[in-house]
Parts: sequence; structure tokens; C-alpha cells
Amino acid sequence: MNVTRPAAVIVLAAGEGTRMKSRIPKVLHEICGRPLVGHMLAAARDLRPDRLFVVIGHGREQVGAHLAQSAPDAQPIVQAEQNGTGHAVRMVLEAVGTIPGTVLVTYGDTPLLRTETLAELLRTHAEQGNAATVLTAVVADPTGYGRIVRDEAGAVLEIVEHRDAGPEQLTIREMNSGVYAFDGSLLADAIKRVSTANDQGEEYLTDVLAILRADGHRIGAHVADDALEVEGVNDRVQLAWLRRILNDRVLVGLMRAGVTIVDPASTFVDVGVTVEADAVIHPGTQLRGRTVVAAGAEIGPGCTLTDTVVGEGALVRNSICDGAEIGPEAIVGPFAYLRPGAKLARKAKAGTCVEVKSAVIGAGSKVPHLTYVGDATIGEGVNIGASSVFVNYDGVEKHHTVIGDHVRIGSDTMLIAPVTIGDGAYTAAGSVIVNDVPPGAMGVARERQRTIEGWVERRRAGTTSAEAAKRAKGLENK
Ligand code: UD1
Ligand code: MG
Repeated sequence: MNVTRPAAVIVLAAGEGTRMKSRIPKVLHEICGRPLVGHMLAAARDLRPDRLFVVIGHGREQVGAHLAQSAPDAQPIVQAEQNGTGHAVRMVLEAVGTIPGTVLVTYGDTPLLRTETLAELLRTHAEQGNAATVLTAVVADPTGYGRIVRDEAGAVLEIVEHRDAGPEQLTIREMNSGVYAFDGSLLADAIKRVSTANDQGEEYLTDVLAILRADGHRIGAHVADDALEVEGVNDRVQLAWLRRILNDRVLVGLMRAGVTIVDPASTFVDVGVTVEADAVIHPGTQLRGRTVVAAGAEIGPGCTLTDTVVGEGALVRNSICDGAEIGPEAIVGPFAYLRPGAKLARKAKAGTCVEVKSAVIGAGSKVPHLTYVGDATIGEGVNIGASSVFVNYDGVEKHHTVIGDHVRIGSDTMLIAPVTIGDGAYTAAGSVIVNDVPPGAMGVARERQRTIEGWVERRRAGTTSAEAAKRAKGLENK
């Protein structure tokens, strides 16, 4: 039997989270690319439980909708009134019946808890043959937490809430994390016998331990190696603090795997991001969502990449990339904005102040400066002159532009889509291209220049321009 594989995991997430002062339910606040409850579900899922439940109450429409979308494997159980942690678990068991086997109970607001720690709790639970095993931590300041009361021999007797504890018990520094492994059948029986005779008049899940012990069953505790892991989020200060810690954990993992992170203090990487060894991440960079960075790529300074794939040896500086694919050895930025569907092939370039959306830029093709490329297919070896615009929008619909291989688009060309520029064609700088340009042709679409000699001296007499013109013509003193 695999003792670290529970029959069910129950995630409690019905509480209000008043101190967040938010319209968003607490467990939906995000850190490192996932809502708090998502971190807990990910850790729980890795135990491969047969069933996964989330108790929802406050903000249950929002939390329920989130689960339906992002965690369809988790079954929501509604706890209409929040009458305590014991009540929350009772609602699950009343809804689904007794769960034979090991039932793990956790909270939705403890994002640092790792699968390994949950597995250790489950292992201790099985090895000691307990009816209930609580995950605890020894902390400097246990104020507010339930205390683990043990006898002289160290056996766990009960858990006493801070507000119900006597002076002696208040000195106990071993706190209840709120995570437990239970024998599902014994839990189902004991949960019905939890009273509300406490300071808050709530059904305390913690009381199940004393009930089981009184019935003659073994109860125990597993002390977490790292007390930080069981920290919960109650307000935005803790939210930021735990984000910092989780982010550091991600960065340390990357650095140990061979990624250079120049300034961990200003680098933020979501848990779903992959970075290969020998990539370099410069300061002020965020890698978000499902971003993938290949070996030898350099990102930053000052980049935000979301769901973007970066090929080997690519260089991305001071840019925002969202749903983009950046090929090997491609160059992006400074100050580029790659939007969804932007695809740069090998050695392509989207340079300074360039915006690209739904467009393929072929191998070795360059869009070096001040250009908008929207809804386009650009072939290989193309150069797009500065300040060109792919005019894709007629006010109603978006249209596509096709540029062949080895095309030279002159600076400040307006390409009015739909339009096709054939292989090897040129456009003249300043052209407004409305018609297709066949392969090898030059498209010119601009006014011929008119030069009116002496206009400035006549019409702007006395200005510095007129004086400069006179000097140039050697007419100063005439
Ligand atoms: C609880 C424990 C305490 C422990 C602490 C750790 C009890 C009685 N006390 O206290 O020993 O040290 O957690 O953080 O269990 N919830 C529901 N429904 C409810 C009440 C709570 O789903 O009716 C959920 C909350 O959303 C939260 C979790 O359970 O995720 C804990 O609730 P909270 O009110 O924070 O419990 P504490 O009083 O902190
Ligand atoms: Mg709490």
C-alpha cells in the first residue's frame, strides 16, 4: 500500500478572510502565478489522492467558478454558514458519506506547504498507526494559534485554541498548523460528536483529536522541519511576505539548476515557468504563466514575459511579451511589445519600439525600429524600414499582409492590408502601399518632391532660419 496516497484531501476554504479587505475571496489572491488555493491544490494533487474536495462558503460563486475552470478535479462542497473547521469537515462527510482510508485535511491559504511535507505527515500517520496525526511547528510566537498539549512522555493529548488556553498552555510554542491526517472511518464518527462548548461557539476540528484519544485510539503529531511552510495568509502584508518566500524558492531552484539570476531581489518567476541551464535573467524581470526560456537566452533587464517561449541564445531586453514565440538567437527590444501570436523565427529581430501582434517574422528578418506589425506573414531575410506600419484595421475588420522572402520595405511605408509584397520586391520610403507589389518590383506611392527656391528668405525674413540660409549661400552682408 502506498501510504502517502490518501483516499481524499479536503481543502478548507470557506472562511471570510476579512483582513484582506478585498472584494476577491482570499484564496483567489495570487502569488507566483497561482491563486492561493491553486498552490494548495497543486501540492495535494501530487499526492495522487482518489478524491479532492474544497469547502467553499464566503465568495463561493467566485471560488466555485474558479474551481470549475481551473481545477475540475476538485469537488466543491458548500458550507453555507461558517460554524468552524469541524463543521466544514462535517459538511463534506455529510455530502459524500464516510471516506474509508486516510483523509488529509488542509487549508486553502497556506501556499508554501510542499507535497513532500504532506507526504511526511502521511508517512508518520501510517507508521505510528494513528487515528489522527496533526502537522505542527515550533515557533517563536504562537499567538493566535492552537497549542499542542502533550504529556510528560511527549504523547499528544489534545489541541487547545489560543483563546481557550490557560496560562500554562499559552507558554507552549508548538502550534497547530491546521493540517491533519485522519482515519476516514473514525473521523466520520468522531466529527458528529464535536461540541460547540468553546469561546467562539464553533465546531472545532481540533476537538476530534481529543475525542479519538478518549475512545482509546492513537493520536500523534508530525513536526514540520520548516515552520514557514505552514504560514497562512491573513492580510496583504503576509501575502507579500509569502510571495517573496515562494519566489525565492523558485529562484533558488533555478539557480541550482544552472540559471544565472543577476539580481534575485528584483526578479519574479511564476511557479509554472521553465528556464533552462545557462539562461541569464537580468534585473527587473518577471517571467509569468507558462513562459519557457531555453538555454543561453538572455532576458532583461526590465522584461515582463507572460506565456512566452524563448529559444536558445535569444536576447530580450526591456520588453513586454505576451503569448509570443521568440526563436533561437532572435533579438527583441529594447522597448518591444510582442502580443499574442507574435512569432519570431530563428535570428529574427523586433527591435526598438516595435509592436508585433499575430504575425510571423521569418528567419533572419529584421524589424529594427519604431514599427507596428499586425496580422502579417513576413518571409525570410526581410528588412522592414523604420516607422513602417502594417495598417491592418479598416475600422471594422482586421486584414492580413503577406511579405515574401528578401523584401526591402522602405522606411515609413504604410502597408494597407490586405496586401501582398512578392519575393525580392522593394517599396520606396514614405510610400502608402495599397496594391500588391509583384516579385522583384519597386512599389512607389508618394508625391514627387517640389522645391521652391528662396521661400524661407522671402516668407520668413529675419528668422534664424533665413539668416542660416543666407550664410549658407554666402549672402550675409548683401
Ligand atoms: C485554526 C485552528 C488552530 C490552528 C490554526 C492554524 C481550529 C479550531 N483551530 O484556527 O488550532 O492553529 O487554524 O492556522 O481549527 N474554515 C472553513 N469553515 C469554517 C471555518 C474555517 O472553511 O467554518 C477554513 C478557513 O477558510 C481557513 C481555515 O478553515 O482556511 C482555518 O480557519 P480559521 O478561522 O483561520 O481558523 P483559526 O481560528 O485560525
Ligand atoms: Mg487562520
